[in-house]
Amino acid sequence: MDIQNVTVAGGGVLGSQIALQSAYKGFSVTMWLRSEGSIERTRPKLERLRGIYKQTLQAMKTDPSAYCRGLADSPETSPEQLDELIAKVDAAFDSLVLTTDLKQAFGSADLVVEAIAEVVGEKEAFYSSISGVLPKQAILCTNSSTLLPSAMMDFTGRPDRFLALHFANNIWKNNTAEVMGTAKTSTESFKAVVEFARAIGMIPLELHKEQPGYLLNSMLVPFLNAAEALLANDIADVETIDKAWMLGTGAPLGPFRILDIVGLTTAYNIVAASPAAQEPGSTAARIAAMLKQRIDEGKTGINAGEGFYSYK
Ligand SMILES: NC(=O)c1ccc[n+]([C@@H]2O[C@H](COP(=O)([O-])OP(=O)(O)OC[C@H]3O[C@@H](n4cnc5c(N)ncnc54)[C@H](O)[C@@H]3O)[C@@H](O)[C@H]2O)c1
Repeated sequence: MDIQNVTVAGGGVLGSQIALQSAYKGFSVTMWLRSEGSIERTRPKLERLRGIYKQTLQAMKTDPSAYCRGLADSPETSPEQLDELIAKVDAAFDSLVLTTDLKQAFGSADLVVEAIAEVVGEKEAFYSSISGVLPKQAILCTNSSTLLPSAMMDFTGRPDRFLALHFANNIWKNNTAEVMGTAKTSTESFKAVVEFARAIGMIPLELHKEQPGYLLNSMLVPFLNAAEALLANDIADVETIDKAWMLGTGAPLGPFRILDIVGLTTAYNIVAASPAAQEPGSTAARIAAMLKQRIDEGKTGINAGEGFYSYK
């Protein structure tokens, strides 16, 4: 399937990244936003990303550690080629079409990436609203982090062309794209999405079947949970637990550094939602209390300047 016209629904953290990245890699990209206010909130996000892309490409001329896999094919890219890529960022930014009009956004789309709020009812209502406008052959992907596509496929009117394409935040450097279909997703659509992911500079990671948490979070969440349990049960302190992991495996970051990047609020929401956390005295309840105390002190992670470590 030939994909040229890409429509991204939602202009939040991920939607703006997916749109700019796809345009940067040469696709014709339209962003659908649900209101004029949403368009106005999306523009500064795109402007900020444009600055980050250009600064990063500029830094890559002199600093090998600045290399971002999603922006250039090789760390050996010459300064002249990097100047060409910088010009491409501006061209991509200028080419983006932002609209609230369903027909304009979806009427000629080959591929839609949905990146609206993580609320199942809102995603279903959105799919229903576009199913009559979207061309029959178009493929629809969800970037949902936690919802399984099979739970929403009946609202799309195209279960065979509906699947998950899950990006990591900061896609120009954390350039994985997990591709996950349902039992009804056609092989052809799955392959087309894998090719699209590759074409926009991602490293596609193919799942054979549905899995809550995809690959990364299926490993990361239990790992972080195990580290939190060691701390909450007072087995060792933060630095010692991190050292055990880093020195024992050669990993660059320990679990508490990773938790500071993820954000303690997300970690708290995950543990607090587990049934075990409702039992007083359980390890899960102790983890929740330990995280809550830090959150209440404003220590929510690297973005706040302090989490398990201080970044001030
Ligand atoms: N933030 C991340 O790190 C991350 C990573 C991977 C996947 N995701 C997934 O991407 C999706 C979007 O996440 P985000 O972080 O960009 O969210 P966000 O809150 O930053 O942005 C959501 C966008 O969708 C719009 N929106 C919200 N509800 C809507 C509705 N009912 N109809 C139409 N538009 C609506 C908002 O106006 C906004 O533009 C979610 O499914 C999330 O799970 C997020």
